[in-house]
Amino acid sequence: MKQFKRTTVTSALPYANGPVHIGHLAGVYVPADIYVRYLRLRGEEVLFIGGSDEHGVPITIKAKKEGVTPQDIVDRYHSLIKRSFEEFGISFDVYGRTTSKIHAETASAFFKTINDKGGFIEQESEQYYDEEAGQFLADRYITGTCPHCGNEGAYGDQCEKCGTSLNPTDLINPRSAISGSKPVMRRTKHWYLPLDRHEAWLRQWILEGHKEWRPNVYGQCKSWLDMGLQPRAVSRDLDWGIPVPVAGAEGKVLYVWFDAPIGYISNTKELLPDSWEKWWKDPDTRLVHFIGKDNIVFHCIVFPAMLKAEGSYILPDNVPANEFLNLEGDKISTSRNWAVWLHEYLADFPGKQDVLRYVLTANAPETKDNDFTWRDFQARNNNELVAIYGNFVNRALVLTHKFFEGKVPACGTLDDYDRQTLAEFADVKAEMERLLDNFRFRDAQKEAMNLARIGNKYLADTEPWKLAKTDMERVATIMNLALQIAANLAIAFEPFLPFSSKKLRDLLHMETFRWADLGKTDLLPAGLQLAKPELLFEKIDDAPIQAQIDRLAEIKKANELAAHKADPVKAPVAFEDFEKVDIRVGTVLECKPVPKSKKLLQFRLDDGMGGRTICSGIAQSYPHPEELVGTQVCFIANFAPRQMMGIESQGMILSAVNADGKLVLVQPRAKVAEGSCVG
Ligand code: MF3
Ligand code: ZN
Repeated sequence: MKQFKRTTVTSALPYANGPVHIGHLAGVYVPADIYVRYLRLRGEEVLFIGGSDEHGVPITIKAKKEGVTPQDIVDRYHSLIKRSFEEFGISFDVYGRTTSKIHAETASAFFKTINDKGGFIEQESEQYYDEEAGQFLADRYITGTCPHCGNEGAYGDQCEKCGTSLNPTDLINPRSAISGSKPVMRRTKHWYLPLDRHEAWLRQWILEGHKEWRPNVYGQCKSWLDMGLQPRAVSRDLDWGIPVPVAGAEGKVLYVWFDAPIGYISNTKELLPDSWEKWWKDPDTRLVHFIGKDNIVFHCIVFPAMLKAEGSYILPDNVPANEFLNLEGDKISTSRNWAVWLHEYLADFPGKQDVLRYVLTANAPETKDNDFTWRDFQARNNNELVAIYGNFVNRALVLTHKFFEGKVPACGTLDDYDRQTLAEFADVKAEMERLLDNFRFRDAQKEAMNLARIGNKYLADTEPWKLAKTDMERVATIMNLALQIAANLAIAFEPFLPFSSKKLRDLLHMETFRWADLGKTDLLPAGLQLAKPELLFEKIDDAPIQAQIDRLAEIKKANELAAHKADPVKAPVAFEDFEKVDIRVGTVLECKPVPKSKKLLQFRLDDGMGGRTICSGIAQSYPHPEELVGTQVCFIANFAPRQMMGIESQGMILSAVNADGKLVLVQPRAKVAEGSCVG
C-alpha cells in the first residue's frame, strides 16, 4: 500500500435548508470525526474540512414559501448547523460555506480552466419556461398529473405518491409552481461534462485500482459504469448560484452539484490561503471523502471527472460511504418531521453528546441500513457506558482514594492473573488500528469497550476491597494496574467519546496523551495525585425515554391524519332500513362539560317533544360549549336511552370527523322547527 505524508478528510457539505439530525451524524460526521481524531492522536498531519452547501433549487423553494430571500434561509441554517456540529465535538479545522466570496472565485476559476481546455460540451435543448414569471423552470418547479398513478400533485422530477422518478415532460397537464400558468417549451443552452469521455479511465481507476473500497461503494460505481456514462449538465437556468463565468451565459448558474464539492477546496483555501495546495495537489496527500450513500456517484464518478478535467488535482483514495440510519423502524424524513434533530436532542439531554455519539457508532449503518431506537439508546447508556466503562473508572478512582489517599500506588510483583489480564489487552492497539484504518468504526469502538470490560472483570475477580485488611502490597499492585487500564481507556475512547475522554484525563491528571501509548502500563507514575472521583456517565430513567417515544407517536399520528383519505363506503342498505333511523333537529338550550370526563358534553335540547338530554363525546373539539346555546344540531331520536357517567343520554348528536381528528357538529344552515325530520 502506498505511504502518504498527510490526509485531507472531507465530510459532505449539508444543505443549509434545514437543521441536521441523527442520520447526518451517524452516516457522515461522527465517522469522519472518529477517523480524524484517531489520525491526530497518532501525530499524523491531517486536515478536516466541512461546510454548508448553500445553493440548489430546494433552498429557493423554501425561501419563496416563507417569503424571505434564499440568503436569509442559508444564513439561518448555516449558523444552526455549525453550532450543532461544534456542540457534538465534530472537530473541523474549517467550516465554510458555498456563498462565500472565495468559493465563488474558486468555483468560477475551476469552471473556466475546464472550459478553456475544451473539457465541456455546449448543447441546446428544449425546457419548460414560465412566460408569466419570465424564467425557466427547474424540475421541482413543475407540477402536474403523474402518468403512472394519476396523482395530480406530482413534481417534474418525481411523483411522491407512487415514488416513480419522472422527467418534466412526462407530466400530464404540467403547471408552473411559481405562477400556476401553463409552461411552454423554449430552447436553452447548457454546459455538459462529457462523462462518457471519462469512462475508460474511471473504469480502470475504480474497478481495477480500488477493489478495497467498501462493497456498497464499489458496487454502486460498477453498476453506474456498466450502464454507460452520459454527459451531465453542469449549468442551470436559475437566479440562485454562481454565475456561469463565460460570455453569453446570462441568467445561468453552475449546477449545485458542480459547485458544492469544489467547496471542499474553497474552504481549505479560506483556512490556509498560502499552503492549501499541498492538501489538494500533492500526490503524497491522501484524500478521503466521508458521505452518505446518496452521494456516491457524485464523489466517485462526477467529482473525480471534474478534478481530472481540471488537471492539477489529486483524486480521492477512499470514499467510505455509509448506508442510511432509520428511526424506530421508519426512514428518517425531514418533511414528515420523522427525525431526532441535534439541537432538540441537546435541549432534552444536555451534556449527553457522547452518549449519542456512542449509540450512533454502535449502530453505525456501515454495511447496511440500521435502526435507532430510544430503548436501545437507553440500554446502551445504562448497560454499557454506565455499567461497564463508567463503573470501572469510578471504582478504580474511589478505591484509590479510599486506600491510597488518591495517589497512584506503586506496582509490586505481578502474579499470573495480572499477567493474563495484561496479555488480554496487549493487542487492543493493533486490533483497533486494523479496524480504524479500514473505516470499521463500529467494531473499533467495541474493542475499546472490551478494554473496559477487561478492567471491570479484573477488579471484580481480584476483589481488592477484601484484600485491604490483609495484603496492602497486593492491593497497591491491583490498583496500579487498574488505573493504568483507566488511562488506556482515555486514549482508546478519545476518537469516539471526546468529552468523556477529556473528563477522564482530567480526573487522572494525565499529561501525555498519544495513540502510541495505548497498551502501555506505565502511563501514570506512582505517587501521582488523582482528582476527586466524578461519574463519567449517569443512568437514564424510563421517563425521558418514554417522553421521546410519545413525541414520535404523536408525530406518526399527525402524519397519518395528514395522509387521511376518505373511509371506504360501507355495504349498501335498503331505503326501508335507512328510514328506520329517526334523525331530528333540536335547539341547544344548555350545553356544559360532564364533570370528571374529558370527552363528554351534556346537551339539553328543545326537541319539539318536551325536551331531552344527550351526552356527546365532542368536548375536546368544543372548548367553549356555552357558545353552542341557541344553535341547532341533528340527533338520532330513536336510540334506546343509556347511562353515560351517571347521566341518562337519550339519543346521539351527529358530527363529522375532520382530517385532523377534530369533530364538527352537523348543523342545519337555516333555522328549522324543533323536531323536524332529517332525511
Ligand atoms: N448537500 C449534499 C447533500 O446533503 C452533499 C453535498 S457534498 C459536496 O446531499 F460534495 F457536494 F459538497
Ligand atoms: Zn405517481
